[in-house]
Amino acid sequence: MRPIIVVVGARPNFMKMAPLYSELKKRNLNALLVHTGQHYDQNMSNIFFEELGMPKPDIYLGVGSETHARQTAKIMIDFERVCIENKPQRVIVAGDVNSTIACALVATKLNIPVDHVEAGLRSFDNTMPEEINRILTDRISSLLFTPSKDANTNLINEGINPNSIKLTGNIMIDSLVSNLKKTNSKILKKLNIKEKQYILVTLHRPSNVDKKDVLADIVSALNQISEKIPVVFPLHPRTKNKMKEFNIQHNNNARIIFTEPLGYLDFLSLTKNTKLVLTDSGGIQEETTALGIPCLTLRENTERPITVKEGTNKIIGNTKSRIIEEFNYVLSNESQTYKIPRLWDGKTAKRIADIIQRRVN
Ligand code: UD1
Repeated sequence: MRPIIVVVGARPNFMKMAPLYSELKKRNLNALLVHTGQHYDQNMSNIFFEELGMPKPDIYLGVGSETHARQTAKIMIDFERVCIENKPQRVIVAGDVNSTIACALVATKLNIPVDHVEAGLRSFDNTMPEEINRILTDRISSLLFTPSKDANTNLINEGINPNSIKLTGNIMIDSLVSNLKKTNSKILKKLNIKEKQYILVTLHRPSNVDKKDVLADIVSALNQISEKIPVVFPLHPRTKNKMKEFNIQHNNNARIIFTEPLGYLDFLSLTKNTKLVLTDSGGIQEETTALGIPCLTLRENTERPITVKEGTNKIIGNTKSRIIEEFNYVLSNESQTYKIPRLWDGKTAKRIADIIQRRVN
């Protein structure tokens, strides 16, 4: 049979595609794993393959870091060759990174149907590169696999054919459910912290880290918070580079524990055991909701409103005063009611594979 190409490129793609790739293989479907190399460091890429049980990619494009236009263009040129040589019957892309739109665009122009996993999310903020990637990928995809009902509504409002929209649930939660039993306290011991006695921070969005005054204000808030409770802060390469470039120092007395980017299992262990997460990530808003851990999102909006409506997430912007105020509120208000959204049950990959299997031969 002609292959089904499964595309991964950047860190948040790996936990979305690992369960689907494995499900397709279980059904003896000819899945071909293509990694664009948008992320390439050991701890931004390889470790996820090892921990999530994905084999080495069949094809690695090695595009690396570039400006948006150059990175997208490089992926397109290389991926077109892959499609021409391998004649896939379908191409599956996930999420909203540059690799997603680049590969979707190439495949569609070669008349190869594209399936988009995690379709329909909208922040309604076109200054986010991911929003452009989402809108355009959805517009040209054949099957749109959505994580929640709000995503269906967004797609219908944009005039997408309802027959192509499939509410299959949140595939990231498949990885979370199947790996939860592998979490442990090794990383807590290594960092010398205790369950529920630290907070976890991740930041990498250009809106938070690319401007000196904004990043300095956030780090200043973290300094102040760390006087009350240790702060664990795995540094994304973009954030690390910017802190260096802007010469932003953290207070020496502050208990901020900076680490390299962490692998999936260490990070999940930290998320599961933390008192609170401060983040600007999309996926972490979902993982905290699934785990019932309070999450404060340092953004003005979210493409994942269900994590606010039903889950444990709150959108708080990025000013120092608001961060401190919301942190204090969470610390003094123990219980939070939440529910796990429908179809965030660890079975999304099966539902997606069922639909894809009916369309391949
Ligand atoms: C990308 C995605 C973003 C996602 C994020 C998760 C786009 C437009 N953005 O943003 O949606 O939330 O990944 O991490 O696709 N770098 C390394 N090693 C790596 C990868 C990157 O050092 O393995 C450094 C490079 O200096 C690079 C910078 O990090 O310039 C940013 O990487 P890039 O892939 O451009 O964007 P992210 O901010 O990671």
